[in-house]
Amino acid sequence: MRILIHGGFFSESSQSNETKLLKQKVLLDILEKSKVYLQSNNAVATSIFATAMLEDSPLFNAGTGSQIQQDGKIRMSAAIMDGTSLKFSGVINVEDIQNPVFVAQRLMKEDDRVLGGEGATKYAAKEGFPLFSTETEERKKEYLSKKESNGTGTVGCVVLDRQGKLAAATSTGGKGFEIPGRVSDSATIAGNFANQNCAVSCTGVGEDIVSSGLATKIVTRVTDGFSLTEAFKKSFDELKPYDGFAGAIGVSKNGDVFFSESHPKIVYACFDGENNTVFV
Ligand code: GLY
Repeated sequence: MRILIHGGFFSESSQSNETKLLKQKVLLDILEKSKVYLQSNNAVATSIFATAMLEDSPLFNAGTGSQIQQDGKIRMSAAIMDGTSLKFSGVINVEDIQNPVFVAQRLMKEDDRVLGGEGATKYAAKEGFPLFSTETEERKKEYLSKKESNGTGTVGCVVLDRQGKLAAATSTGGKGFEIPGRVSDSATIAGNFANQNCAVSCTGVGEDIVSSGLATKIVTRVTDGFSLTEAFKKSFDELKPYDGFAGAIGVSKNGDVFFSESHPKIVYACFDGENNTVFV
């Protein structure tokens, strides 16, 4: 069993030691709870479980604590990919719900599994998700002062369960100050992808991640025989010509775990089958 979670990128200069310690604590706590959950649940369920807890932490830019767009609204995106059924589901720019990843989960039962904008928000309401404001005071202050937030902070999780099944889940509040309607990478296969061989979740600038097709590319390379490390290395090398800004976590079916970042530094925690590690 393997679990990796990430909380996006954070600028070193904007982080106090206190914030770093808090993030470490929160990531380790979520990792521990997810390990217990994985004992009796599969990879997909666990990736959703972990991602929902990350969404609920205001330290990250997803769910509660999401960044605010140009017009003062929060629009969130989340996706799940089940590496066994090869089904992907997601919501793009959904509004006023607590956990976008749960709406993505609900969409797994539908024929139309990726919904955007008003349709996504209406679907969530029809399915009984209560109205919820994910705006925090800190994000509002940043928005009003047009100050850049202290991180792009997308969250995600990849899991290998005891049956050898893989899954990935990713959730984001976007870039902050973006043109309303911008589509993030997180609910696309560039930002979140899994199959029977590998699962990857990305963070960083959505435009760069989509331009490189990052998650799908890494997973495809592993499927075609690359080791997880080689697949990450080649795919991240391909971001260099245009200074792509991305980070990713991945796990392969043989239990290898890996992360990479084009710029410092991705915040993540990992259970490699024996030990926990956390990088903040
Ligand atoms: N990776 C999140 C975004 O660019 O929207």
